[in-house]
Amino acid sequence: MNQKKQLIAILAFLIAVGLIGYTFVSAPTVPEDVLQEQVRAQGEVIYLENCAECHGREGKAVACYTEDGERVACVGRLLQTPDLLCGAPSLRLQAMSWNGSLESYLIAVTTVGRSENGMPAYGLTYGGALTEARIELVSTYIAGWQTENLCQG
Ligand code: HEC
Repeated sequence: MNQKKQLIAILAFLIAVGLIGYTFVSAPTVPEDVLQEQVRAQGEVIYLENCAECHGREGKAVACYTEDGERVACVGRLLQTPDLLCGAPSLRLQAMSWNGSLESYLIAVTTVGRSENGMPAYGLTYGGALTEARIELVSTYIAGWQTENLCQG
């Protein structure tokens, strides 16, 4: 190999290493909105499997279906309502004397339940079947119904 060829080989090698390094450094990080959409989608699945039967699709307590698609009467509270979701704290949180955030309220009720009123407990330590992570996901999903549209009226 003459010197010129050696030089070209070295340059090609350096460019290759540089390119590989660059792809690592600039490995696309998942954008925030994509992450949020993934969290929402996971929360939605948990909601549809566990909560929609009583609270209705999207928490509207209008049309409730069992997992088999059979229509049943909604017995859960309306969740997609300004009363619960809008304001800091919302009227419902004030009425319940809840001092924490909306999400902490949703997590607490879902974990502990209100069995005396027909709301089952979902926390593992309360005999339920949802891990803390899954309860957080479904609570984030419910809190996500707090849109400008819902709250401006
Ligand atoms: C068997 C029916 C039933 C199922 C299933 C159910 N709920 Fe409920 N839920 C209720 C009832 C009834 C209430 C009202 C309890 C009360 O007034 O004290 C309630 C209340 C709530 C509240 C409090 C709302 C407020 O305004 O204070 C939240 C939050 C809630 N449910 C979340 C969930 C989530 C999340 C799931 C699924 C993981 C779920 N529920 C599944 C029946 C149900």
